[in-house]
Amino acid sequence: MGERFPLKARDHVGTPALKRRFNEAHFEEAAPRYDFAVKAMSLCRDASWKRALVAALPDLPAPACLDLACGTGDVAFLLGARYPRGTVVGVDLVTGMLRLAEGRNRYPNVRFEAGDLCALPFPDASADVVTGSYALRNAPDLRTALAEVRRVMKAGGAAAFLDFSRPEHPLLQRVQYILLRGWCGLWGTILHGTPEVHGYVAESLNGFPDRRRFADILRQEGFSIVASRRFFLGITELLVLRGRGTPPNREGV
Ligand SMILES: C[S@@+](CC[C@H](N)C(=O)[O-])C[C@H]1O[C@@H](n2cnc3c(N)ncnc32)[C@H](O)[C@@H]1O
Repeated sequence: MGERFPLKARDHVGTPALKRRFNEAHFEEAAPRYDFAVKAMSLCRDASWKRALVAALPDLPAPACLDLACGTGDVAFLLGARYPRGTVVGVDLVTGMLRLAEGRNRYPNVRFEAGDLCALPFPDASADVVTGSYALRNAPDLRTALAEVRRVMKAGGAAAFLDFSRPEHPLLQRVQYILLRGWCGLWGTILHGTPEVHGYVAESLNGFPDRRRFADILRQEGFSIVASRRFFLGITELLVLRGRGTPPNREGV
């Protein structure tokens, strides 16, 4: 282990620029032990949630799929297997994550590319399917990221997002914060010598809308929620979405 990770999660979620910078450093630090950490933090449930995400997508013959904030590639590989005649691009901000994903890749129809959730390196209306697990919560700006998802999705395209879900009641929000800060921070301490790694989950949720507000924002940004499924007493939630009509500000599509 090198020098201890120096940044404090809570000081870096206030503005898009700070959050982006924190995430880049945080996930670069987390990358080498990320797969183990996610298994541990989710009590080995994470893989089944990701399988549920991909299983909830529609049957399509050869879709163009994007997996956002792909990390080490779990969901991209599940998409590659689910749609063998389709194509999958996993996108992530962090080089360490992308290198690990590329090293694990055994699918000829899956590739990885660097990119930011808020400035996706893809043309308008180019994706039939967009996915993200623990993705949108990390966006420097949620509405910009959702607008990007709508921009790259074809009309009527499908999306599915899995993430921690913030309860509506302030007391439950507090309990969730304490539990996640303690539990995820513990794994940060064990694996990286500081609770700031992975303790970030709790801080990022503090700046994230609660589940009702999140659903409102999704609708405002042009999505219909076609299914939702909650796991682990609602700590995480899978949302399956459809793009409604043509996104605003798109020309000639
Ligand atoms: C909690 S991990 C999730 C990884 C993977 N989707 C999974 O479920 O295992 C969050 C991922 O978001 C990426 N990330 C953070 N900020 C990002 C941004 N602005 N644009 C793209 N990816 C970002 C991180 O590098 C990291 O790989």
